[in-house]
Amino acid sequence: MNALTSPAKRPSGLSRLTSTDIAEFVAGSAIWAPSVHNTQPWWFAVHGTEIALRADRRRQLGVADPGGREMLISCGAALFTAKLALRALGFTADSLVLPDPADPLLVACLRWRHQAPLTSSEELLFRQVPRRRTHRGGFGPAPLAPGLLDLLREGAARDGASLRVARNEASQAALADVVGMAELVQRLDSAYMRELADWAPPPGSMRADGVSPSSYPARPERTSPDFPGRDFAHGHGWGLPSSSPAGPARFVGVVCVLTTADDRPADWVNAGHALQRILLTASSYGGAAALYSQPVEISWLREVIRHHLGDGSYPQLVLRLGTVIQNAVSVRRPVGSVLRFGDGPPPAA
Ligand SMILES: Cc1cc2nc3c(=O)[nH]c(=O)nc-3n(C[C@H](O)[C@H](O)[C@H](O)COP(=O)(O)O)c2cc1C
Repeated sequence: MNALTSPAKRPSGLSRLTSTDIAEFVAGSAIWAPSVHNTQPWWFAVHGTEIALRADRRRQLGVADPGGREMLISCGAALFTAKLALRALGFTADSLVLPDPADPLLVACLRWRHQAPLTSSEELLFRQVPRRRTHRGGFGPAPLAPGLLDLLREGAARDGASLRVARNEASQAALADVVGMAELVQRLDSAYMRELADWAPPPGSMRADGVSPSSYPARPERTSPDFPGRDFAHGHGWGLPSSSPAGPARFVGVVCVLTTADDRPADWVNAGHALQRILLTASSYGGAAALYSQPVEISWLREVIRHHLGDGSYPQLVLRLGTVIQNAVSVRRPVGSVLRFGDGPPPAA
């Protein structure tokens, strides 16, 4: 969290809530979804009991993500969170994904309806929204909770995605190699690195977006096999001190690939929806995730992973899952800057 923006507080007196209260709470929760480079590429337009979740192309990564795939994955994660926030208020939510082919930035229309009691697992999941953080480094020695991986796989399947676990050392090493190769290629690409630097503000910055030094370790924690992270500090050594006084955590955790059967914009939204379900579920069982999109941003390396998976499915993201004491802090723009009521113009970028 940053000084500017804190997680949305659940309003009291549910029976007297106005649509403004509801929309502010829903959008104020959705903004805590993960997004590529913390670009937060979304805004919300409210009409009566309907919230339109819109992608903000001005926040798309022109070099890393020219097709907008990662932008829509990010919006899919916000969609899952928005729906969960409606459930946290006791509403049921109807949603239509990419409802208007003539308006590809309209990611989803969300309408809230009658009250239905919140289940304890929904409540637990919702509580993770502000707590969950992207982890960057090794994991601790404690294994994931028994049965969690099955739960995550079932959740991904419900969203039309697949969580594929690298079961043996050879598969893990192959994925680590592909991530390492992508990282090398991107570090040699000056346009790519300029864009990364634009989204990685220095310490003390008041920016409410981008990957801040409070969210990554100053010294990369190596795992075996090693999955090199992005150099958000671009050589300045910014970042958090080592996560544990006993030395950095070193465990690689469970290595997975999030995939979809097809590769259209709706699949990307589904992948983001599944991603946030996975991350919040893992968090509710004491787990955390490190994310790697470098290899899926380079088409030939994405093909290498696809070939490795062997069933024609499309990799959307590489993940490592494990347990760790989180110390990362992330930032968000205030909800007022991404929310519009009626037919007003889009908010400033
Ligand atoms: C599509 C997508 C791709 C991402 N790729 C990476 C990545 O390659 N490396 C990384 O460290 N984090 C990655 N992230 C995590 C974001 O940087 C992170 O969500 C953002 O900085 C906000 O921080 P938070 O997740 O802790 O709230 C990705 C997130 C998304 C949704």
